[in-house]
Amino acid sequence: LPVVPSLCGVPLKHISLVTLAIQNSMLTLIMHHSRVSTPPSRAYSAATAVLMNELLKGIISFIIAYLRIDHSSDAAGLPRSISRVSLRKLASDIFSPDCWKLSIPAILYVIQNNLQYVAASNLDAATFQVTYQMKILTTAAFSVLLLRRKLSSTQWLALLFLAIGVGIVQIQTDHARPAALSVSADVHTMNPLKGFLAVAFACFTSGLAGVYFEMVLKNSQADLWVRNVQLSLFSLLPALAPILVSHASAHTPASAWLPALFHNFGLWAWATVAVQVLGGLVTAMVIKYSDNILKGFATSLSIVLSFLASVLLFRFQMTFTFVLGSGIVLVATWLYNQPPRRPARDAFLRAPR
Ligand code: C5P
Repeated sequence: LPVVPSLCGVPLKHISLVTLAIQNSMLTLIMHHSRVSTPPSRAYSAATAVLMNELLKGIISFIIAYLRIDHSSDAAGLPRSISRVSLRKLASDIFSPDCWKLSIPAILYVIQNNLQYVAASNLDAATFQVTYQMKILTTAAFSVLLLRRKLSSTQWLALLFLAIGVGIVQIQTDHARPAALSVSADVHTMNPLKGFLAVAFACFTSGLAGVYFEMVLKNSQADLWVRNVQLSLFSLLPALAPILVSHASAHTPASAWLPALFHNFGLWAWATVAVQVLGGLVTAMVIKYSDNILKGFATSLSIVLSFLASVLLFRFQMTFTFVLGSGIVLVATWLYNQPPRRPARDAFLRAPR
């Protein structure tokens, strides 16, 4: 019988999926709050947050790759063994001849992670969450184009519903409005069009990066956590680039670079980074222990969670168009994730194991 990886008796597949659903809605809410709750003059740098995310994720992935945990459980439901690899072996795995392949998804994910901040600053948390589901559409398109996957007619229909649902949700966000009630000029103002364009482009990079990462994983035997370290390493330069450019153009003296990097970087900024780091690690686990079909379910569940929390926390106003649009997006996600009738031909988005 195949060994099912588990932690204290609970399959890692289930743990990772539930964690992803909660993480997804927490990220939307915390990121939105961290961006709109302060006036522009006290905003933290999104570029610093993206850099910290990659740095921390890389360090944690390195530790996991170093420990090589055997998740198959013993009688007490605990991981069977934790064996350390030699640092020399780990270094040669990380700097393998094909490591450059990770540079492409790394650059795309850095762009996506930066765009997420633009979107979260300019859209309601719930609207952002629903619109971000368009990544199912781009992932499908890139899977058909790059992986030559076939979609069932139900899945094409679901993609059409998804586009219609997102379109309906957008109807209500066609005008700019302040995120906080204030008569001061120094108040965060949301620009829904800017937010929508940022999400649209983030969906494009999400689809391309996800499919490309899947291609790299499938075509080699390399450990997932080693791949994650490679991903983070290649992300550092593009994540640092906007910071270096802004410091250089502002003629910031070298001694002031570090304080400038963490200017206004408070508790909410660190909370956003922490939830994003968790998301990166859990996404990697979902790819390994589950598949993208179930990942779709986890994200659709997070729409409902973010929606309810937005109503409670941000006094988000439920309009008929929002409920209708999100309902259609939920149905489309469910329809899209229906098991294919002919698995060999229609299997779609099955992540590598
Ligand atoms: O929403 P989507 O699945 O595209 O989000 C992927 C997120 O997970 C990105 O923030 C990306 O940086 C992160 N990720 C990661 N490691 C992977 C794959 C994705 O950190 N192996």
